Amino acid sequence: MADDGIVVSGLTKLYKNVRAVDDLSFTVSPGRVTGFLGPNGAGKTTTLRMVLNLVRPTAGTATIGGRRYADFADPSREVGAILEASGAHRGRTGRNHLRMLCDAAGIPAGRADDVLAMVGLTPAANRKFKGYSLGMRQRLGIAAALLGDPDVLILDEPANGLDPEGIRWMRELLKSLADEGRTVLVSSHLLSEMELLADDVVIIAAGKLVRQGPMAEIVDATGGAQLRVRTPRPDELLAELGTAVTVTRTADGALRIVGADGPAVGAAAMRAGAEIHELTVERPDLENVFLQLTAGKADIR
Ligand SMILES: Nc1ncnc2c1ncn2[C@@H]1O[C@H](COP(=O)(O)OP(=O)(O)OP(=O)(O)O)[C@@H](O)[C@H]1O
Ligand SMILES: [Mg+2]
Repeated sequence: MADDGIVVSGLTKLYKNVRAVDDLSFTVSPGRVTGFLGPNGAGKTTTLRMVLNLVRPTAGTATIGGRRYADFADPSREVGAILEASGAHRGRTGRNHLRMLCDAAGIPAGRADDVLAMVGLTPAANRKFKGYSLGMRQRLGIAAALLGDPDVLILDEPANGLDPEGIRWMRELLKSLADEGRTVLVSSHLLSEMELLADDVVIIAAGKLVRQGPMAEIVDATGGAQLRVRTPRPDELLAELGTAVTVTRTADGALRIVGADGPAVGAAAMRAGAEIHELTVERPDLENVFLQLTAGKADIR
């Protein structure tokens, strides 16, 4: 359905001296995890806050399932969100915090225990929030976002403060929620963290769109796999490989070859009589790609 998912169109936010978000348009599809990426200060939080009607746009619109957030009759059942490390009353237990939120949203109190189990907090349900670690607070925030069993989840840097085990857990949880057909939009300033999680990515810098598309395409467009080859007879090998490949020479004397796979290089080396001392497939360094894409659009503005 065309109306599904999140549609951001020409969204702009001007603060006094800063174009925090600048004519930004992108779409987020249901059934997929979309990574919302950009360096610190790029405008991610401001964008998500506009989508959630917490900040008024200077221009443009954002819709969720074809409607603006402000027009939802029962938002907590339609959209779950975490913005920044979520707060709770310090002296209240995790379970009571969630029960209060249930009460406020007209959700049966028993749902609190369901979501506590979903985020692995059952053992800490009766402990006070002030004693929760950062990772436990993040989990409680996710639990709160899931209370209304919403079709859309919007999470601002949810992996902050999670340990590797927690990040893996979060990945599995968000993937399973997307597999159920939900729309999942997750921001991060770390591409490496998103690489394993996101199906699609939206990359912004200085408030503007840099790239949008399936993660796999973004990776391919930025070079795809390359081969690192070392031989004492590089010129003979390259003559045999012909003009279909792009070659650069590394500082340590190896060849970096794009446009041919391992078997093709091996066969060419055999024909050329060039002994191979090393042949490795190098994945593009996504973090570098990300830095290149967003470089010069500095973000602490
Ligand atoms: N209330 C505000 N008043 C003035 N400027 C603001 C306000 N909120 C955000 N900004 C500015 O807007 C820009 C974008 O900030 P935003 O918080 O959206 O970035 P971000 O991508 O979420 O960064 P981070 O990765 O650090 O969380 C920054 O330059 C920030 O200083
Ligand atoms: Mg932010």
